[in-house]
Amino acid sequence: MSISFDPDNRLWLLCGATTAYALRLDQDDTVRHVHWGAPISLDQAALLPTRVSPAASSFEADAGVDELTADGGARFGPAGLQVRWADGGRGVEWRYLRHEADDGHLRIELADRYYPLRLTLHYRMRGDVLERWTSVHNLDERDPVTLLRCDSAGWAVPERPDYRVSHLVGGWNSEFQLRRTAVPVAETVFTSRRGLTSHHANPWLAIDDGTAVEEHGEVWSTALAWSGSWRVTLHRDPVGRTTWTGGFGHEGLVWTLAPGERLETPIFAGLYTAGGFGAASRAWHDYVRRHVLPDPDETRPVLYNSWEATGFDVTEEGQRDLARRAADLGAELFVMDDGWFGARSGEHAGLGDWTPNQDRFRYGLTPLAAEVHRLGMAFGLWVEPEMVNPDSDLYRAHPDWVLHMAHRRRTEMRHQLVLNLARPDVAEWTHGWLDALVGEHGVDFLKWDANRAFTEAGWPGADDPDRLWIGHTRAVYRIMDRLRADHPGLRIEACAGGGGRADLGILTRTDQVWPSDNTDPVDRIGIQHGFSQLYPARVSGAWVTDCPNVTTARTTPLRFRFHVAMAGVLGLGGDLGAWSERDRKEGAELVAAYKLIRPVVQHGQAYRLGGSGTLTAVQYVLDDEHVVLAWCPTRRFGHGSPALRLTAVQPDAVYRDLDGGATYPGALLRESGLPLDLPAGDYASALVRLRRVA
Ligand code: DGJ
Repeated sequence: MSISFDPDNRLWLLCGATTAYALRLDQDDTVRHVHWGAPISLDQAALLPTRVSPAASSFEADAGVDELTADGGARFGPAGLQVRWADGGRGVEWRYLRHEADDGHLRIELADRYYPLRLTLHYRMRGDVLERWTSVHNLDERDPVTLLRCDSAGWAVPERPDYRVSHLVGGWNSEFQLRRTAVPVAETVFTSRRGLTSHHANPWLAIDDGTAVEEHGEVWSTALAWSGSWRVTLHRDPVGRTTWTGGFGHEGLVWTLAPGERLETPIFAGLYTAGGFGAASRAWHDYVRRHVLPDPDETRPVLYNSWEATGFDVTEEGQRDLARRAADLGAELFVMDDGWFGARSGEHAGLGDWTPNQDRFRYGLTPLAAEVHRLGMAFGLWVEPEMVNPDSDLYRAHPDWVLHMAHRRRTEMRHQLVLNLARPDVAEWTHGWLDALVGEHGVDFLKWDANRAFTEAGWPGADDPDRLWIGHTRAVYRIMDRLRADHPGLRIEACAGGGGRADLGILTRTDQVWPSDNTDPVDRIGIQHGFSQLYPARVSGAWVTDCPNVTTARTTPLRFRFHVAMAGVLGLGGDLGAWSERDRKEGAELVAAYKLIRPVVQHGQAYRLGGSGTLTAVQYVLDDEHVVLAWCPTRRFGHGSPALRLTAVQPDAVYRDLDGGATYPGALLRESGLPLDLPAGDYASALVRLRRVA
């Protein structure tokens, strides 16, 4: 990891072990993109030609590619920085001030040539991931500056014959569906306007030239660390340049920088690899573990969650019974979901009244927490701190605390409204009850949910109401950070009606994510596949639930459900009282089996594998230990138990199956594959533990 500077060419080079990134200062003091890809030297970077448009004319700029495209001059693509000055003028013209580099962090400071606005472009290498962000400072003592757009970074890939984008789409119950499609000659917008990261798009994308596969090919990939609304605009121009710019906020939102005020954007991280989509994912996983998660070395416990078992029908006796059964199966963390507080016996009421329901918990939560702890488990609680039901004491007392606008109706979704956490008083109140809840009841774990998008996002009386879009998310971050600092043992799961808030920003202060409310194992294979493009198994909550599945009505064997859920942080989410003796025995064995493989799944590297037909698998590797989880939802007549070719084995090494005892030369595991003894019929699965023995 190094940063070097060539003063003659006004050129910077940032290097990781397998990648290099170069940028330079142009004659007009604009910072231009030079290189992002394989390692090169500073001398070589100086020889790279400026990437001007080959189609320059009086209708087209011939300048190079900007590191952060500011509105102004002959620029006609999507702008990453758009400014409106107090005198009504627009556009920016840069003047270079200085640069500084320390601890792998490069800061390039620019100012507008006329207006007192300062911009700092930040670059920080974290292994092979380049973190970038922007800060803007209004130095004017009298006038505000309106930021119509302030992105974290712009990215560019070198010229290739073609471009393809990989991205994630979805909806509630169908998050993280991976799509790979040719980049159109157009501006393609990936965005959330929902105030949350969203189920519908995730702020991650990967670009390749259309030929990359799982194990080889060049891939350029970026991910935004932000949990509110966001926008990434990908632009392929007719002469083959492909660039993208992204940051927080969706189109139409503005931020008025008061005199003296500074705005810092979230991190937009970028990663280049020549090793295909698999290597890109492994590098992301490594980055998340080393530089994002607050407690990355921990091993996540096996969790039990009561939601699918009880819905809102929560009672102390019922929870105690579930806790006992969960402990018998080997659960290490018991989470009581929705329904424990206020008048919350359904979706209609109680949200916001965060005191234990007296009828359900006569002596409060302490006896249940004590029982869970006595059973040897940690105690977790579901909360939804950003929301309120209109039918609640909180809303009756503070109807002005929610996002709302004069003369507009307050749209309810799931019978709830959104609290305006950008208001310091509301944020303080929210922190207060969470802090007391955690402190008084010995809460070890919070499942932090958020079950609706923003609408009528107004803040009557505020000077700059749009800033609530960013302020709300920042308040969520601050509350989580404070809770963690004051309760060092507290762990948090990020949830927003399933996977509506999974991103690098929330993962900076949470320990795991609930990727989807869809717990059907067949659907979940696809969800986990998409999720794994960026996020490691270590953060992927996965429950084994009952059949027929509540979402899909599909019935699958218990073993298959377990094997799919073992590819993440295993959890149990069924009505354990209804499990047969046989299921309980098998369940306990499978939980024990998970605990054996857990270090490899949660701390190892993941290799996604494809087989014939519907067979897919993931191979996890930690030192000499290998775990293969393989799933085959259905097989056609004449197609026997398929072998699975492993990619993460050394051809000249020997591997022993720790359960069956067989040994396999690595070369054969690579070429003809690992024989899988899959049971006949649909929903077949296998768990294989291998150790490299020679
Ligand atoms: C949505 C979550 O995703 C579910 O797991 C559950 O916690 C419900 N909310 C509770 O209301």
